[in-house]
Amino acid sequence: MSQADHQHHSVKTERLQIQDLVNLCAASDPKLQVSSVGSDVIQGLTQTPKTLPPQYFYDDRGSILFEQICELPEYYPTRTEASILRHYASEITGITGACELVELGSGSSTKTRLLLDAYAAHAYPLRYVPIDVSAGILESSAKQLLLDYPSLEIQGLVGTYELALQQLTPTELPTRMIVFLGSTLGNFKPQECDVFFSQIQSALKVGEYFLLGVDLQKPTSLLEDAYNDSQGVTAEFNLNMLKHLNQRFEGNFDTQLFEHWAFYNEPLNQIEMHLRCLKAHTVRLEALDLTVKFEAGETIMTEISRKFDLDVMQQELQAKGLTSRKVWTDPKQWFGLILCQL
Ligand code: AVJ
Repeated sequence: MSQADHQHHSVKTERLQIQDLVNLCAASDPKLQVSSVGSDVIQGLTQTPKTLPPQYFYDDRGSILFEQICELPEYYPTRTEASILRHYASEITGITGACELVELGSGSSTKTRLLLDAYAAHAYPLRYVPIDVSAGILESSAKQLLLDYPSLEIQGLVGTYELALQQLTPTELPTRMIVFLGSTLGNFKPQECDVFFSQIQSALKVGEYFLLGVDLQKPTSLLEDAYNDSQGVTAEFNLNMLKHLNQRFEGNFDTQLFEHWAFYNEPLNQIEMHLRCLKAHTVRLEALDLTVKFEAGETIMTEISRKFDLDVMQQELQAKGLTSRKVWTDPKQWFGLILCQL
């Protein structure tokens, strides 16, 4: 972890509080932090085939690249989900009433504004708890929200979903809704989904809500175009993970020696993103004391993005006591929003 990261933000004004859970841990138990940070990278790069966890996409540069992906003509999920929210935000907020809105992977909070607008229109009191691994984007978007929503209170948490969900304090508002938009759930393998839903269940009281956005199954060509855009932004986003690792762990990845590779794995209903090595070489990550050998043609899997079936998803939620109250989709049924209640 870099020196700049250690000095990181504990921002506090009257309506804004941002807690950095990553560095809080480091402060309370430096040994534990040093030994566990990056262990996922070591694990992924020492196994065959190699993998890297998708959260390493999101350094500040990666978060900006992802925002650009969301605007691409081929990348339909963001605008499709936004159109559903535009249509139904008033109905969703009417169901929950005054509420504490906890958002996992809040990023720029652009789509969240559709919900915040709807709560404001009902004149419901509202607290917003954005959670993101990228401190930079969390802080800048929270500050902008304070300006645009004069009565909004924000308590941001910088950290992983698991850590942040454990840190939630009981809400003073009548109810809580955890929102998880953009089909980020697609990054989780089935087994990880199961664990994640249990964590959601633990963070809610009976009667509280979980709003989940999921990308749905559709023809392969549409999916593959969305992850192989003509401007090459997705390729840059994928390669940026290596630059992030260089910066974070004193690495010497040469991004010229890798290329972006994305395809739809039909039997598993998932997009897979890989980085394919173009030439045999060795990479060193000094801070992890790790040397990694690459063969020409060898791949690192950086992401899965699963595509879901609405009925199956509702059954899986129900298995965790999360009862589906209402489901919304777009006219082409490309994307789904599920509101469930514990
Ligand atoms: C943020 C995980 C939902 O899987 O579509 C976009 C990330 N990767 N383009 C997705 C992503 C390549 C995105 N999620």
